[in-house]
Amino acid sequence: MKKTISLQTSAPLWAALSALALFVLGLAACGGSSSKAVTVEKPTGKALYVSYCEICHGEHGDGPMADMLKVAPPDLTLISYRREDGKFPEEQMRRMIDGRDSIEGHGHGDMPVWGATFHVSEGTDNEQVVKERIDMLVKYLESIQRLPEK
Ligand code: HEC
Repeated sequence: MKKTISLQTSAPLWAALSALALFVLGLAACGGSSSKAVTVEKPTGKALYVSYCEICHGEHGDGPMADMLKVAPPDLTLISYRREDGKFPEEQMRRMIDGRDSIEGHGHGDMPVWGATFHVSEGTDNEQVVKERIDMLVKYLESIQRLPEK
């Protein structure tokens, strides 16, 4: 994999986020909608994961950017497994992905703040849309929970 030597600490993060922003802008432009309000077609949870999360988290914590991060991105199919009660912490996930309301023990690593990012990338100040995106991601994550292979 090609690595830029000068990239350190949060630089890869910004590189990734700008790439994502461009990608999303590109998508919006291709939409060809002439109406003033940009209508972005409603994505699925999986599509959102692929465009926003896979670069770090990959399929099992092994995305292409994983090596460059200070804190390794966890395997998101083992969230429930890692919890003491083995349950999927839906509400915690929602807040963790949103990130604007930072919770104890989170948000000190390289995990981007998606609540704010979705506002920008989706070109919306509509809180409802942001909530919807996060909801879809949480539902998708819940659907991919598994037990580790022995
Ligand atoms: C720039 C790399 C990067 C991207 C992109 C990224 N994450 Fe993360 N994520 C991390 C890192 C690093 C951690 C662990 C450190 C931390 O908690 O801050 C993490 C932790 C998490 C956790 C906590 C898991 C647990 O068991 O507590 C969840 C949930 C999560 N990410 C979801 C997502 C979702 C959903 C997306 C896409 C919207 C995403 N991440 C995109 C790097 C990333």
